[in-house]
Amino acid sequence: MTQENANAAVLENTAAEGASSASEEKKLLEIKDLRVSFFTHAGEVKAVNGISYSLGYNEVMGIVGESGSGKSVEAFSIIGLLQSPGKVIGGSIKFEGEDVLSFSEEEMRQFRGNKVSMIFQNPMTCLNPVYTIGNQLMEALTCHDKSISKEEARKRAIHMLELVGINNAEKRVDQYPHEFSGGMRQRAMIAMALITRPKLLIADEPTTALDVTIQAQILELMKELQHKENTSIIFITHNLGVVAEICDRVSVMYAGNIVEQGDVNEIFYNPQHPYTKGLLESMPRLDDDSHERLIPIEGTPIDLLDPPAGCHFGPRCKYCMKICTKQKPPYAEVGEGHISACWLHFMGEKMEKKMEETLKAQAQAEEAARAAHFEAVQSAIESGADDIFAAKDKAGNAAGKAVEEAADALENKAEGALSEAADEAASAAGEAAEKAEEAAKDAAKDAEAAAAEALSAGKEADHE
Ligand SMILES: Nc1ncnc2c1ncn2[C@@H]1O[C@H](COP(=O)(O)OP(=O)(O)O)[C@@H](O)[C@H]1O
Ligand code: SF4
Ligand SMILES: [Mg+2]
Repeated sequence: MTQENANAAVLENTAAEGASSASEEKKLLEIKDLRVSFFTHAGEVKAVNGISYSLGYNEVMGIVGESGSGKSVEAFSIIGLLQSPGKVIGGSIKFEGEDVLSFSEEEMRQFRGNKVSMIFQNPMTCLNPVYTIGNQLMEALTCHDKSISKEEARKRAIHMLELVGINNAEKRVDQYPHEFSGGMRQRAMIAMALITRPKLLIADEPTTALDVTIQAQILELMKELQHKENTSIIFITHNLGVVAEICDRVSVMYAGNIVEQGDVNEIFYNPQHPYTKGLLESMPRLDDDSHERLIPIEGTPIDLLDPPAGCHFGPRCKYCMKICTKQKPPYAEVGEGHISACWLHFMGEKMEKKMEETLKAQAQAEEAARAAHFEAVQSAIESGADDIFAAKDKAGNAAGKAVEEAADALENKAEGALSEAADEAASAAGEAAEKAEEAAKDAAKDAEAAAAEALSAGKEADHE
């Protein structure tokens, strides 16, 4: 079994567990090892790189990840709206057992009209400015059910507008999209998506463009409608806070891969993948009033035209080890229905702890060096030295060297991370961190002396 196949198998099993906890019935949607590439002039962009999951009836799956991680491309692949030069190059999508990827154009149109609907970030993507809202709702309905009369369709359109919270729906139904506010258009689009009672709703960043109050109202509305209509939802967002509100399970995507997947509470309270942890640390939490500083994930997403070997998150990961740069990490089952693709899960607990300690020691050394550097410059300024820059350089060089030493020690440790020797390296890194701290303090003293020298030299010069 190749590693990719092994990964797909783990995902599949876990997805099955997750789905069965939400519903014992058969699955509504099953995606296996889906791969989508864009064939551009510059080369092949692997936008979705082998993702698998399944969705039960009446279940809400959140897909989260930074911009460009492949969330929309995945969604467009499900509903057959992938734009050229994008192409599904592997895997399968099954909806109630039917092979979606083999649908003819007409079958796909029927599928979109009857079984699945999509809500986009920008409502004008699907509202036509030259028709009234009512006409568009009625059109969606009559396409779905040819036997329905015009009067009945109008009645249902008004009812749907009321359901999504549009006041005075009898009058509003005859208005054009430009007569609606942003929030109202978003509601109208939800009405449009739900009027055919689809079994699956794909909501792609449906609230991103709205202000916070309207966002909360729309989320509330979607939750309510989901319960009333028993709709399954794929909820795509880059905002984990929104996910907590509405989702049962979550797939975290990075650079075309699902890096972690699990029950929403597991992802929030027991995240395992460094990227998920980073995402959580980088955004405000409604359930957290500790006022801790938010920490952005450093670096930028990788170039999908030329992805690095091994773990795609490697270039931004503070735990990155040699093996991460060579081999893609397999999935580890880290809890019930909870999987994460990271080499750290394959290290012993002891190793992981050492790694944490070493990183902490390095961070402390860096902080100490930075503080020493700052103090040196400060004291040079306070003592009125002319040659502040020389003092600053001296302190900076010594501090920089200290930090480098700590980083080297960390790297040595990381290189041996999967072997027994790593233990020793970890303690060496700890020692180096201590040394770094000492060196940084020395640097501060040196800088102070340099500042004093500079000061007395300045005074002598004045005297002369
Ligand atoms: N039309 C296109 N041509 C080339 N590459 C594309 C195109 N659309 C999307 N991609 C690639 O697919 C990746 C995923 O895009 P997308 O699914 O839209 O991300 P998001 O997670 O923000 O929804 C992008 O980073 C980009 O590299
Ligand atoms: S596999 Fe390595 S680089 Fe990737 S997330 Fe895990 S520790 Fe970081
Ligand atoms: Mg998108």
